[in-house]
Amino acid sequence: MKKRVIIDCDPGIDDSLALMMALSSDAIDVIGITIVCGNSPIDMGFENAKKILHHMGRLDIPIYKGADRPLAKEYVNALDTHGEDGLGESFLEEIAGYDTHEQAVSFLARILHQGPCSVIALGPLTNFAQLIQEDEKAFDAIERLVSMGGTYRSHGNCSPVAEYNYWEDPEAAEIVYRHMEQTGKQIEMVGLDVTRQIVLTPDLLSYIERLDERQGAFIRKITKFYFDFHWSQEHLIGCVINDPLAVAYFLDPAVCAGFSSHVDLVTDGPARGQTIVDAFDFYHRSHNAYVLTKCDPLAFFQMFLALILHKEKESLDLLENLIGDRKGIS
Ligand code: RIB
Ligand code: CA
Repeated sequence: MKKRVIIDCDPGIDDSLALMMALSSDAIDVIGITIVCGNSPIDMGFENAKKILHHMGRLDIPIYKGADRPLAKEYVNALDTHGEDGLGESFLEEIAGYDTHEQAVSFLARILHQGPCSVIALGPLTNFAQLIQEDEKAFDAIERLVSMGGTYRSHGNCSPVAEYNYWEDPEAAEIVYRHMEQTGKQIEMVGLDVTRQIVLTPDLLSYIERLDERQGAFIRKITKFYFDFHWSQEHLIGCVINDPLAVAYFLDPAVCAGFSSHVDLVTDGPARGQTIVDAFDFYHRSHNAYVLTKCDPLAFFQMFLALILHKEKESLDLLENLIGDRKGIS
């Protein structure tokens, strides 16, 4: 039975790779995509999602615009990382027509009242904080909430201690995590501790191109800027593709490992956006999050390539060499 999923995102280069992966899986039914301001401003994110759906031949999937600013903070985009078009300055052709007028929160509430549906959140949690404020019952009907965001022991990527999605709208993240505590549920936190292990390298990109020229050329086009950014910022040969790991983990939780914990968000000051993971239960508060700390990069890339290239994992015989020693849950 296909799992019904809504993907909330801020495309965004890695969001786009995550959408491509999710749309290639026959285990999930992506019943809608909601956009939140984050990497890209809301209208750009909407247009970029259309470009990805067009590339995947899936313009049948509806896209809905959500929050165009954080709940309280001034909106700060991440176009320095994703390029002025939010898609690595690939400047893909705009997709005419295809507009939807229903707001994201209205769509989320409508669908969640209909029946079981999970959410993979790849951007700031603004749409979900608003959903809690407007229709708590709909939010509580979410089957699984998998969020790419936060960090436990890994350093931040937009401050010494904070990951961008939760830094950009810390009030929204705080509302969502606090609501999880109040309702005794858990958000599945796919943070930098695990996503930093998922590095698309030049060799992996070349392998993708050798196996599928069209898909490889498209991925090279939208990731070149991202490779350059990682070299200039972190002297890394490759690029960290955070969001696809959230999709992989949703599809197969065995790709990662972690632990239940209470997590609090810092909303202001130099630690704005920090996730305070109470791993040793100092505060004796309910475990509102399942925090991922380990992942299996080989298993991830086997799934990623198998899905986007429509290949059997067993046929991807070069992957083990290309991943090197980053195998197993580490
Ligand atoms: O910090 C990484 C996250 O922020 C990713 O989801 C990236 O797309 C940006 O939204
Ligand atoms: Ca994202």
